[in-house]
Amino acid sequence: MPDDKKFDDTQIGRANVEDTPELLRYYDDLKGKGTGALWTVANKIEPWEPVSQSVPMIWRYADLREDVLRALDLVTPEKAGRRVIYLDNPGRSDVAAAVGWIYAGLQVMNPGENATAHRHSASAIRFIMEGQGAYTVVDGHKMTLGANDFVLTPNGTWHEHAVEPDGSLCIWQDGLDIPFVNAMEANFFEVHPDLSEPVVFPVDDMTKTWGNPGLTPGGGSWTKGYSPLFKYEWDRTYEALHNLSAASDGSPFDSVLMEYVNPVTNGPVMQTLGASMQMLRPGEKTRAHRHTGSYLYQVCKGSGSSVINGQRFDWSERDIFCVPSWAWHEHANGSATEDACLFCLNDLPVIRALGLYREEALGENGGHQPVTG
Ligand SMILES: [Fe+2]
Ligand SMILES: [Fe+2]
Repeated sequence: MPDDKKFDDTQIGRANVEDTPELLRYYDDLKGKGTGALWTVANKIEPWEPVSQSVPMIWRYADLREDVLRALDLVTPEKAGRRVIYLDNPGRSDVAAAVGWIYAGLQVMNPGENATAHRHSASAIRFIMEGQGAYTVVDGHKMTLGANDFVLTPNGTWHEHAVEPDGSLCIWQDGLDIPFVNAMEANFFEVHPDLSEPVVFPVDDMTKTWGNPGLTPGGGSWTKGYSPLFKYEWDRTYEALHNLSAASDGSPFDSVLMEYVNPVTNGPVMQTLGASMQMLRPGEKTRAHRHTGSYLYQVCKGSGSSVINGQRFDWSERDIFCVPSWAWHEHANGSATEDACLFCLNDLPVIRALGLYREEALGENGGHQPVTG
């Protein structure tokens, strides 16, 4: 928790210049020439510690689902491009982010519908929330998708999302680094010239080739900056969490957590976006910590609560909540008999690659925040 002396802007080394009529005239002159005096903005642009513009918040599926379904009658995928309700963090509305530099939305599709094939500089993930028969085609690789499956559409790849005609209504979470790529002023978007992405490989070939634990295909080579395993299946992920739980106590802050990785490098699935799945065992409560980076959680199993910067958020299946950079957070499973699982999308690959990762555990109060809201 902040210690007043450590964050004192009156101390030597920080900007602390009082305005005078002469200085104000000087500032005006500088402004007229496209310049400014650093000491007038230094304490703001170089805070003592990260100051996130994002507000900790939760989007409850029970509140949102009906509104997502209303979009089915109001717009077609052809007209909308993608029929998505996006998550608008009030602190980040200017860049359409759910948290930090991460965009997220809920996409809904009827059986037999498909979204126009396209590609973009932004990297994307998709996490299936409900329905049967959804599939995604990425650069000719078709992936069949079920609830809690996690699929990648890496930057620059042609992709198309659809639901089989004999499937059911499907809703999934999209997650992209659009705000980040826009901040880098590097975003391109193209609609596929044929409006559709042809399937040219056997269905689910990337999972069959690259998704075998501890095994890599003979003669297989992959040098792209993203994982060749485009789809991560829920059953295997859940089984892995239980395997780890049987062999380890896990982390005091995250309990039993598995990171989704590129099987070739063991690094993140894509260069800008990372993801993990964690399991809280029955009755488990984690200790609070904070770290740089932005985190968007989806509850894919169970119910419980999280305390974020002193504010308690109760969650249940399919709710989505965010943890802004450097916000204290801790999670608790609300059930004494069932486990709870949290999917997490984050910008850790960027934070780590740029040497900006920093983490701190809460030492006071037994590692738990006082709940103030
Ligand atoms: Fe896309
Ligand atoms: Fe954390």
